[in-house]
Amino acid sequence: MKLGRLNHIGIATPSIADSIVFYRDVMGATQICEPFDLPAQGVKVCFVDTPTVSGMNGTQIELIEPLGENSSILGFIAKNPQGGQHHMCYEVPDIYAAKAWFESQGKRVLGEPRIGAHGTLIIFVHPRDMGGVLTEIMETPKGTH
Ligand code: CO
Repeated sequence: MKLGRLNHIGIATPSIADSIVFYRDVMGATQICEPFDLPAQGVKVCFVDTPTVSGMNGTQIELIEPLGENSSILGFIAKNPQGGQHHMCYEVPDIYAAKAWFESQGKRVLGEPRIGAHGTLIIFVHPRDMGGVLTEIMETPKGTH
């Protein structure tokens, strides 16, 4: 598998509105996208950009708030009421090759490739097989970098 850039770090939060205030006023973020719902994943999402350096897009912070009663992150928020680091997301050129690669090593891929928050295919790999880190793998958006 060809490892690409660290696209984003997922941060679960009980309130995207409160987290936006934190990233803007405490962390000094100036590029904060409008939050949007991702019902298929049961989350509301908001991207906070870090600066572009040497023509490369900066790694983003992906704020995720539970959406609906079956949200995949309700359990995480129950265990971490303040929210916290939820996952890391790396880009790859080919999601199906990446899925086959992880499975060939006995890593548990959670579900089939599906469209993620950036509009490209994603998978998640079980944290217990990944050094304790829930790992998202996404296909690099076309036309970037
Ligand atoms: Co993500």
